[in-house]
Amino acid sequence: MTDAVQTLIDQAMREAGEAQTFSAYAPSNIALSKYWGKRDRALNLPLNSSLSISLAEWGSHTTVEPSQSGSDQVLLDGQPLPPTSGFARKALAFADLFRGGRDVPLMISTRNTIPTAAGLASSASGFAALTRALCGSFGLDLQAQDMSRIARLGSGSATRSLWHGFVRWDKGARDDGGDSHGVPLDLVWPEFRIAIVEVDTGPKLHSSRDGMNHTVDTSPLFSSWPEMAERDCKTIEQAINQRDFETLGQTAEANALAMHATMQAARPALSYLTDQSWAILQRLWQARTEGLAAYATMDAGANVKLAFLKEAEADVLQAFPGARVISPFEWSNA
Ligand code: PMV
Repeated sequence: MTDAVQTLIDQAMREAGEAQTFSAYAPSNIALSKYWGKRDRALNLPLNSSLSISLAEWGSHTTVEPSQSGSDQVLLDGQPLPPTSGFARKALAFADLFRGGRDVPLMISTRNTIPTAAGLASSASGFAALTRALCGSFGLDLQAQDMSRIARLGSGSATRSLWHGFVRWDKGARDDGGDSHGVPLDLVWPEFRIAIVEVDTGPKLHSSRDGMNHTVDTSPLFSSWPEMAERDCKTIEQAINQRDFETLGQTAEANALAMHATMQAARPALSYLTDQSWAILQRLWQARTEGLAAYATMDAGANVKLAFLKEAEADVLQAFPGARVISPFEWSNA
C-alpha cells in the first residue's frame, strides 16, 4: 500500500530548502473517547474515531536545527541522549520521513512542560511538536490537517495534538490513511477542567502500542469495542456541542472503563490500573453520591484524570488534595 503521508511529504519536500532552525510547540491531549486498536499497524490507522481535549500549556517545545557536529543529536530536557536510546531512535526515524535518505544531520531538542512526575510525558505532544518543527525547518507550507496525518505516523494520539481545545480524530476509510486525521471542534468551553490525580508508578511494563495490539489479537471482548467506541465518540461530540457536561462525563468514564475491560479480558490479561487507581475511582464514585460532578478517564498508565467544570474545582481539590488542575482553554505562550 502506498502511504499517503509519505507521498504528501515527498511532494512537499520537492520545494524544501536547506534545513533551518525552527521551534514549535504542541499541547498534550487526553482522550475523552479513546483510540484503542489499529486497522493498519504500520500507518497507525485506527479502528474507531476518538475525541480529545488538549492540555493547553502542558506539552512539548521542540527545536530542529542543522547539526553543527555533522552527526545527528537528540536532546531531551537539555540532556543529550545516546543515539541508541528509544526516544532518540524514534525521533530520528521520524526525521527520516523528511530526509528521504539525504544526508542532513539534525539536532532535535525537546523540552516537555508536563511535570515528569505526572507520568504524562506523552508521545502525543512530542510527535506533534516534532512534526511542526520539521515542517518549519524544511520550509514546508502544510495545513495543520496535513501535519496531523504526518504526526499520526509517530504516534496515534499525536494526530489530535496539532490543536488546542477539543479535537476529533476521524478514523477515515481509505487504506492509504489519506482521510485519517484530526479535526478541531470550533468551540470554546472556558469552564472545562481536567485534573490529574497522580499514582506512583515506575516505568510502565507495556507500551500502549504493544498493549493495544495484544488486546486486539487476544481479547474476546475486543470485538464489541470499535462500534461502541464510535458511538461514544458521537455522543461526546454532541454533548460538547450542547454543553451537556453530565452526558459527556458519564460517557467518557464508561468509555475508558470499557477500554480497560477489553485489556483485562486479553490473554494473558493486561492491566495498566493499579490498586491505587481503583482506590481513586472508588473515592470518586463515593464523592459523586454526595453530589460531586466529576468523571474519570484513564489511559495506558495508572494515573487517573478527572473531567469537571470550574464550579466543582474546590470540591475536586478537597476530595483529591494535590491533584493538578488544567484549564484547557487558558494558555499564554503555548
Ligand atoms: O498514541 P498511542 O499509540 O500512545 O496510543 C494512545 C492510546 C490511549 O492513550 C490509551 C488512548 C488515546 O486515545 O489516547
